Amino acid sequence: MKAIRFSAFGPAHEVAELIEVPEPGAPGAGEVLLEIERSSINPADLLMFEGRYGAAPPKLPVWAGGEGVARVLEVGEGVDHLAPGDRVLAILGSRGNWRPRVKAPAARLFALPPADLDQLAMLGVNPPTAWLMLHDFVTLAPGDWVMQNAANSGVGQAVIQFARRLGYRTVNVVRRPEQAAPLKALGADAVLVDGPDLAAQVLAITGSTRPKLGIDAVAGEATRRMARSLADGATIANYGLLSGDPCQVDAADIVFRDIALRGFWLANWFARQPLAAQHALYRQLGDALADGSLHIEVEAVYPLERFREALAHAARPARGGKVLLAPNE
Ligand SMILES: NC(=O)c1ccc[n+]([C@@H]2O[C@H](COP(=O)([O-])OP(=O)(O)OC[C@H]3O[C@@H](n4cnc5c(N)ncnc54)[C@H](OP(=O)(O)O)[C@@H]3O)[C@@H](O)[C@H]2O)c1
Repeated sequence: MKAIRFSAFGPAHEVAELIEVPEPGAPGAGEVLLEIERSSINPADLLMFEGRYGAAPPKLPVWAGGEGVARVLEVGEGVDHLAPGDRVLAILGSRGNWRPRVKAPAARLFALPPADLDQLAMLGVNPPTAWLMLHDFVTLAPGDWVMQNAANSGVGQAVIQFARRLGYRTVNVVRRPEQAAPLKALGADAVLVDGPDLAAQVLAITGSTRPKLGIDAVAGEATRRMARSLADGATIANYGLLSGDPCQVDAADIVFRDIALRGFWLANWFARQPLAAQHALYRQLGDALADGSLHIEVEAVYPLERFREALAHAARPARGGKVLLAPNE
């Protein structure tokens, strides 16, 4: 079988390699053999190829693919909470999912509820990120405003749908006006195009009840514009660096208006939470997929052999949704 890795840093579609690897073989005690059905291509994967993800670049070569959904093919000795045919999140919190089959320790895995395959492929990273940022930084009450940028991203779509369910109102910042209609259809209260007048646009919508929480995936000058738009005492949760620039916030906003800037990284949450808490969150989010209350747009699904095309597509701006790989098709 073949798997994707990279042995030099650079644009993903240039440095990715599809190489022959041995079949994983039968699962040992406490292991399962998985067939990876779908795997999403996330900005984190692309940054990893460029050596720009995490506190330091990883040691080369690196097996690629951070999340996905898999079917259990075989269970090893002592595994009684999973059975062949169950669907699970593929080796979560690890890499190497862009291959047809993989062996994994069973303890971290649990059977997912029946739901759309593409949606399950995107459950591992973006929905928990959205859910946790809505809960872990600021105590919000129904009716409160939350502001976010990159609002049409996978995380942004999940924020809109979860906020609506929790009774919060969302101001959603995008860089393309045509995003307003689809995001409103998902439950967005307001959609604004980013620009120098952002704070005035937000004030015109929220009046004196400006957002207490800002969710920032863009960084750079976008963080400054978000800080100016929020209520005094608000918190910005920065979780991405889509602009490639460091977060900018004016000292006047920090000192006189008590705006706080904090970071969120899902990997840190995994590291701090017991497995039971992780499973409980995923069960709840899996149920939201199963009952249709969470849906993230997909633009294309590619077989593994067309990996260069898939990676170039995932790196393009103005996509209509996520790009997925189907390693077994
Ligand atoms: N910290 C964590 O634990 C964590 C977890 C999950 C995701 N993330 C981060 O969250 C962000 C979104 O991820 P995703 O998977 O949801 O994204 P996605 O669905 O792949 O969408 C990418 C989004 O980024 C926007 N974008 C790209 N470059 C931009 C720029 N320079 N300025 C403004 N917007 C820009 C795109 O806008 P257009 O459609 O207009 O091109 C699109 O909305 C990424 O930065 C990712 O690394 C972080």
